[in-house]
Amino acid sequence: MNQISFTLKNKDTTCDVFAGTNLYNEAIVYLKKMNKAKYVLITDSKVEKLHGETFLAKCIEAGLDIFMTSFQEGEKNKTRTIKEKLEDALFEQKCGRDAVVIALGGGVVGDMAGFVASTYMRGIPVVQIPTTTISIADSSYGGKTGLDVPAGKNLIGAFHQPIAVFMDTELLKTLDKRNYDSGLIEIIKHGIIKNKKFYEFLKENLETILSREEEKYDKIMAKVVMDNITIKREVVVEDQKESNLRKILNYGHTIGHAVEKLSNFDLLHGEAIAIGICAEAFLAYKNGICSEECFLEQKNIVESLGQETKIPEGISTNDIIELMKLDKKAREGMPEFSLVSEIGKYFETDGVIAKRFSLKVLAEVIDEYKKLE
Ligand code: GLY
Repeated sequence: MNQISFTLKNKDTTCDVFAGTNLYNEAIVYLKKMNKAKYVLITDSKVEKLHGETFLAKCIEAGLDIFMTSFQEGEKNKTRTIKEKLEDALFEQKCGRDAVVIALGGGVVGDMAGFVASTYMRGIPVVQIPTTTISIADSSYGGKTGLDVPAGKNLIGAFHQPIAVFMDTELLKTLDKRNYDSGLIEIIKHGIIKNKKFYEFLKENLETILSREEEKYDKIMAKVVMDNITIKREVVVEDQKESNLRKILNYGHTIGHAVEKLSNFDLLHGEAIAIGICAEAFLAYKNGICSEECFLEQKNIVESLGQETKIPEGISTNDIIELMKLDKKAREGMPEFSLVSEIGKYFETDGVIAKRFSLKVLAEVIDEYKKLE
């Protein structure tokens, strides 16, 4: 098992990240040491059956005063209504400030449970146990929590750092192919924006990573997960609240979030971000920020990952633009982008990451992108 700890700059918040295989027991030892009066296991309908019941039984066996509460799986349920229901479950069980939330699941569970923990009695701790590629790759650490509203994705939320994250890569072996493969895009994103060596390593080992079967898989995945956390940690410790540097982690997410929402969440987050990365790479290329080769490189790796690069037919350029104007990243009604100038290098002008384009330029580039073969 590997362990990395984050301590955020100018804060005394520390987050312990554990990565390895078969981590349930380590997680339970950690939880016991926290010595809380109540443990709240939050999960969704799918993970409850796959992992929740087993984990709950082990916790009870270890003597924790724990209960499980779950909600219907899927991004469509990352809503205010569900948050209220979960909070009511905590009240019913008489949870006080000496309770801890355990988020067991993918990105939706982590975001929702983290947000519940961030506001319950003005904040109680959360431990994240991610069970999907996307949550191991990105969403379980860094402290972003929140929910979706009709106006857009993650528009209500809070920064609430988990006390600990247990990244058990064994769980990935049984994840369905669609979720597994698409989630890898967030790992590749970290290479594209900040670390060419890591990007090249991913590219060289993509077949093994996708196979999940070869003997080499465990060793390679252990390295991938640790390097991936290290890149994100470097960014988050510097700029927890996304005042500038952390914006680089949003690469592909301005167009990606709009496309995800406009697909009515039929696209998984990773699938939408794969499209978003390609479209934003094209935007960078068309505006002289990166070369055509750099754009094509990104399109190729997305294709090698087996992901769609095209914006689904039926999603209009105008709708994308209107939604991007409402995105958290927009300022003065103008969408903002974090781009890359070359593989492994994020783009900045005078130290500023966010880049704006006129709505006319955006519409032209998106229309042109849609016409590409
Ligand atoms: N998912 C991007 C971030 O954590 O900032």
